[in-house]
Amino acid sequence: MAPSQMKALVSAPDHTTEVKEVSVPKPEAGEVLIKVSTVTLNPTDWKHAAFMSTPSQILGCDFCGTVQDSNGTDLAVGTKVAGFVHGGKYEDRGSFAEYLKARADTLSKVPANVDEAVASSVGIAGYTAAQALFSRLELNLPSKTDTLPALDSNSPKLLVWAGSSSVGQYAVQLGRIAGYHVITTASPKNHEYLKSIGASETYDYRQEALPELISKQNPTLSGALDCISEGGTQSLCARSLGSSGGTVVVLLKPEKEAIEVRNDVKIVHTLVYSVLGHPFAYGKAAYDEATVSAENAKLQAFTSQGIFRHLFASGLLRGNVIKHMDGGLSGIPQGFKYMQEGKVSLEKLAYRIG
Ligand SMILES: NC(=O)c1ccc[n+]([C@@H]2O[C@H](COP(=O)([O-])OP(=O)(O)OC[C@H]3O[C@@H](n4cnc5c(N)ncnc54)[C@H](OP(=O)(O)O)[C@@H]3O)[C@@H](O)[C@H]2O)c1
Repeated sequence: MAPSQMKALVSAPDHTTEVKEVSVPKPEAGEVLIKVSTVTLNPTDWKHAAFMSTPSQILGCDFCGTVQDSNGTDLAVGTKVAGFVHGGKYEDRGSFAEYLKARADTLSKVPANVDEAVASSVGIAGYTAAQALFSRLELNLPSKTDTLPALDSNSPKLLVWAGSSSVGQYAVQLGRIAGYHVITTASPKNHEYLKSIGASETYDYRQEALPELISKQNPTLSGALDCISEGGTQSLCARSLGSSGGTVVVLLKPEKEAIEVRNDVKIVHTLVYSVLGHPFAYGKAAYDEATVSAENAKLQAFTSQGIFRHLFASGLLRGNVIKHMDGGLSGIPQGFKYMQEGKVSLEKLAYRIG
């Protein structure tokens, strides 16, 4: 039996945060109650706390935990699961808490051989990479394989700008597992690791004329995921595509300069909260029932149909590189500061909760 009260990190007046005693959430139809064991942090967590949340909203998206109340779904009590919720927007929905409620069909079962912090990192980063690559760029889905497909000179190509970011690490791995020749950018100190998880070509994003070099060497390249999507990277991605143009998926608002840089390149935005299946508003954009249901359905291959579970169990998917942090819920604001100061490089901050 879950208690009626729990501790959670919530937004407080003047865009501060506090650990507070709140009610344990009550799962709605199709949702389960989860006892949270480990959480990981994303830039959206501190951005919600600093700019978007109003007081008393539970912060946090990513989690790994165990089902405490299956609430009529087919997820048995005690099943270990990972995923994410839209933290920082509701008073009864957020992962930086001892318990959370989440839709059963948005969860990934966690194999026993997988570290909980790694499993938690699949939430925002893994689901975003999957949505961007397989729903937006419409790449071929990875099969539930135990071995990597062979690559040759005819293998299709994919550009992941910022492969060392959390989303980028998942995109490099999922692209390679799906049989793509992955080209990526990162600081040189991170190139060796990115090659070890599947990148075929690595470049320093600070290099002069890099887009023209990538484009010249990869004339058939027609798809890119920009894991930074601000400060001009969208244009760099557009310029990197091969001679026939193609599509660049972006994670932040499309930039005018990028839309205009080539008329044979489409800039397409993606927003991972849409896979959760709840209608919601985000800034001026409204995500209605039909849109979120369709996005949720497309992600089922990875969640309820088990691609993530299978790829983690087989060891092909290694998730994010984890940096373990101290202090539980009350230590998380230190993590926000670390991220906000731009210190994150090839690392995912993880906190043990219960
Ligand atoms: N739309 C959505 O649904 C969605 C979902 C997830 C994330 N996001 C957004 O996407 C962004 C990335 O999130 P994240 O958690 O993946 O990031 P992250 O892990 O915090 O990114 C850190 C990495 O960014 C790299 N980097 C910084 N500037 C770069 C540049 N100019 N070119 C290439 N790489 C650069 C650094 O690489 P080096 O250390 O190698 O230099 C570092 O490893 C955030 O703005 C986040 O809010 C949006």
